Amino acid sequence: MRAATRSGALPRKSRPLALEFVVPDPSLIVMVGAAGSGKSTFAERHFEASEILSSDRFRAVVSGDETDQSATRGAFSLLHRELDRRLAAGSLTVVDATNVQRSARRALLVRAHATKTPAIAIILDLQPATVLARNADRGRVVDATVVRRHLAQLRASLDGSEPVIEGEGFVRIVVLRDSADIDRVRISRTPR
Ligand code: CTP
Ligand code: MG
Repeated sequence: MRAATRSGALPRKSRPLALEFVVPDPSLIVMVGAAGSGKSTFAERHFEASEILSSDRFRAVVSGDETDQSATRGAFSLLHRELDRRLAAGSLTVVDATNVQRSARRALLVRAHATKTPAIAIILDLQPATVLARNADRGRVVDATVVRRHLAQLRASLDGSEPVIEGEGFVRIVVLRDSADIDRVRISRTPR
């Protein structure tokens, strides 16, 4: 094993290469993945809190409880309204919701297209066992049946010779399939 430098960091050569992505600013970043796949963790690592519109946060606004599924319709109505406002203002925005259904992505894409904002999908397509374990291990556990449904909806969006998501209107689709790759991601911005 290569010795660590005095600062404790590994020498440059032995550090894994970063996976660099350049996103236009402004753009719409659509996180896609089952509950428990790590969307919020990823979004919070790479973007400012003020740039992230989270369906859970809007559920909390509507009902005082971010797990209240009966608040979903009201939550998305607020989220879409805020998204319209941000896109009209030319502000880069990340939507942190499962977005595993085509109809959910469609509602975001029509808004991006209306303001000529490029939309990028970042898909967390991890092994089902990893997602189910992460979900089971956290404070706010989503019913495993719901997580399995998300995983099936994601497969339906991604699999096949012509994955449906490819025809939806994203300028770029980033699919991240393992945790090591996700840890190597770096995102930078280029003015549009
Ligand atoms: N997690 C992890 N390692 C990562 C990313 C996430 O162990 N690289 C853990 C988080 O700490 C959390 C769980 O996995 O306990 C789910 O992550 P979260 O970001 O909350 O997942 P989401 O996809 O945002 O789930 P939800 O749709 O339910 O909000
Ligand atoms: Mg989340």
